[in-house]
Amino acid sequence: MNKKKKKVIVTGAAGFIGFHLSLELLNQGWNVVGIDMLTDYYDPRIKQKRLAILKKYPAFRFYKVNIARYSALEKVFKIEKPDEIVHLAAQAGVRYSLSNPWTYIESNELGTLNVFEAAHRLKIPRVLYASSSSVYGTNEKSPMSEGDRTDRQISVYAATKKANEALAHSYNNLYGIETIGLRFFTVYGTWGRPDLALFKFVKNILAGKPIDVYNRGKMKRSFTHISDIIAGIVAILKQSPHGRVTIYNLGGAEAVSLLDFIELIEQEVGKKAKKNLMPMQQGDVRETIADYSKAHNELGFVPKMPLRKGIAEFVSWFLENKNFLSTLKEPKQ
Ligand SMILES: NC(=O)c1ccc[n+]([C@@H]2O[C@H](COP(=O)([O-])OP(=O)(O)OC[C@H]3O[C@@H](n4cnc5c(N)ncnc54)[C@H](O)[C@@H]3O)[C@@H](O)[C@H]2O)c1
Repeated sequence: MNKKKKKVIVTGAAGFIGFHLSLELLNQGWNVVGIDMLTDYYDPRIKQKRLAILKKYPAFRFYKVNIARYSALEKVFKIEKPDEIVHLAAQAGVRYSLSNPWTYIESNELGTLNVFEAAHRLKIPRVLYASSSSVYGTNEKSPMSEGDRTDRQISVYAATKKANEALAHSYNNLYGIETIGLRFFTVYGTWGRPDLALFKFVKNILAGKPIDVYNRGKMKRSFTHISDIIAGIVAILKQSPHGRVTIYNLGGAEAVSLLDFIELIEQEVGKKAKKNLMPMQQGDVRETIADYSKAHNELGFVPKMPLRKGIAEFVSWFLENKNFLSTLKEPKQ
């Protein structure tokens, strides 16, 4: 590690978004300290592969730590003395929060409390943390903007993300730490999560297996390419902290229906999907469409990647790595 460079701790560095953020920051000349415990919600072998890419950089250091264990987390903060924290580690996924709600409370609520508390004790001026579009819950208003009601979550996952926002507000109020919440909208891209739609659809279509289409496809999403999410986070890191407590929607420009999304995938894969039309999943939201004007005005955030191009990039990546990716264990449900 180079002492003159700025240092960032990225929690969840072996995860999908944490990996891409770490890679980008390393390429931009940061020292990056990754924290992750490589949970087995989805096959940790893909997390190992992501880490192997990051470990090629001398400016990357990794700690396998459970953020829900305060003393272990504080130890890393004390050794590394970072300038910035980007907290992305979490138990993700809506459906699994019905069968194992405890892991969400442990990683997302206790884990996030620990990150804020360590930042306070070590006098780190700012914490960026992942929230989610799911905090908007049953809000009928669309597109969703940061000032809309967020007191009607419909899954334990979403409730833990809302709790993170409340904690962020408290830590700002108590100690003046700048806290910036990032409400991500359906992020997709290479090295993506095997439990998410794009990964599952491409895998099954290629294998000639049916895909489950919830709410018979009557859903809409602001699909957001990972490169746009990373550009938004980097834009925040370029601003100096000045004690704000704020939240940004980071979401794609196009609101796309699930059936149109599947059609784009079929075109890129060159094969028709066998669709299993299913009822709505419990805890899922029919529409999550982003109003990103606040991030646009304050960060210059503009989602740039067209969905068709992003899907094409994903399909080529999947095909290049097909031998490995098709051996991954099914994610927990
Ligand atoms: N991907 C999306 O579409 C999306 C949308 C909204 C919000 N988010 C949020 O963004 C963040 C990153 O999501 P992602 O898609 O990269 O998920 P991910 O599951 O790929 O990454 C999360 C990482 O956190 C790690 N982790 C979980 N619990 C931990 C613990 N107790 N201690 C240490 N590490 C732990 C996991 O091992 C994993 O590698 C999460 O907070 C997620 O809730 C993601």
